[in-house]
Amino acid sequence: MNLEYLSGFGNEFASEALPGALPVGQNSPQKAPYGLYTELFSGTAFTMARSEARRTWLYRIQPSANHPAFIKLERQLAGGPLGAVTPNRLRWNPLEVPGEPTDFIDGLAGMVANAGSEKPSGISIYHYRANRSMERVFFNADGEWLIVPEQGRLRIATELGVLEVEPLEIVVLPRGLKFRVELLDAQARGYVAENHGAPLRLPDLGPIGSNGLANPRDFLTPVAHYEDLKQPTTLVQKFLGELWACELDHSPLNVVAWHGNNVPYKYDLRRFNTLGTVSFDHPDPSIFTVLTSPTSVHGLANLDFVIFPPRWMVAENTFRPPWFHRNLMNEYMGLIQGAYDAKAEGFLPGGASLHSCMSAHGPDGETCTRAINAELAPHKIDNTMAFMFETSQVLRPTQFALQCPQLQPSYDACWAALPATFNPNRR
Ligand SMILES: [Fe+2]
Repeated sequence: MNLEYLSGFGNEFASEALPGALPVGQNSPQKAPYGLYTELFSGTAFTMARSEARRTWLYRIQPSANHPAFIKLERQLAGGPLGAVTPNRLRWNPLEVPGEPTDFIDGLAGMVANAGSEKPSGISIYHYRANRSMERVFFNADGEWLIVPEQGRLRIATELGVLEVEPLEIVVLPRGLKFRVELLDAQARGYVAENHGAPLRLPDLGPIGSNGLANPRDFLTPVAHYEDLKQPTTLVQKFLGELWACELDHSPLNVVAWHGNNVPYKYDLRRFNTLGTVSFDHPDPSIFTVLTSPTSVHGLANLDFVIFPPRWMVAENTFRPPWFHRNLMNEYMGLIQGAYDAKAEGFLPGGASLHSCMSAHGPDGETCTRAINAELAPHKIDNTMAFMFETSQVLRPTQFALQCPQLQPSYDACWAALPATFNPNRR
């Protein structure tokens, strides 16, 4: 099949895989075209403000209600319960892709979370590792998923159509959307932010104006594509953190036509219009926000997805790496490729770091010394893509994250080498 996409963000999209499958002028006619069943897929409460509301009408071969009881699976997600609270700065080396057959769901490992899945806000963060395509179909009742591939291309067959993504692209899957992740390469690895709060949206731009950062036209939603397969299919759901499954006698990816704005989408991070200073200092990293999930407190995010892409550094008389800082927000960082400009070593593609509320951090000793003594000329930070899941509530590591051998025992040491440079006699 040829992959086609619809362009835009938050649009009322419409797509049909058969001509005339989409009813005209009403949502739920007595008889839908082609003998299809009508189903509403809601992503927000019915009474949400119109500008916030997400819902899609589906026209499908079998309604989703046609399934037997779900049974709790013996094999649950790696990660386990949340571990002890810690104010310490933590950093992990990349998790290895397992040797045994592992699909996207088997290979998910819970790393940190700041709320139970039953809460209407908060996030959970997973790392995924896979070496085979899913044969089963999955949906997540606990939140929206933002998938950030670090290794390997993915083909994600969803109820609304097929998306293909590669490292340096991201994909967002609405809460409850059914999908199957297939591998287009031998193995795949990356990150998942599960958003329990308001759906991700583009940030406001304020004085930046009506253009810049991630532009709406670069977000791509698939066109309708259905599977008319009468074959046994396992349907797995994650419900309050537990995996449950039932057996269907058909593929649940059987939506022939749809219209609405509760849709999956992908975005190429290389399209991000990176802005920055052209005089001195550098702006707060909020200038790099791709998507945000707001809270009810204006300006306070439940989840910000922030990237640190290739960019020119031109600031005059300026310490150019990220400054030392202590923030209200909690920062979980990952690296897709290259190196991050605040760290000389130890932060690897596929790895991660956690800096919680008010935990002090910034460039390591080597990076700091180099930056203070650098000859300042325009230079490009290239071949890099770090990112941050930033959230307003403290993240607690899982028992897995605290016990895995990838947890670095001496992360604090990277700041221990900062030289004593204070001299009261030399201004
Ligand atoms: Fe930070």
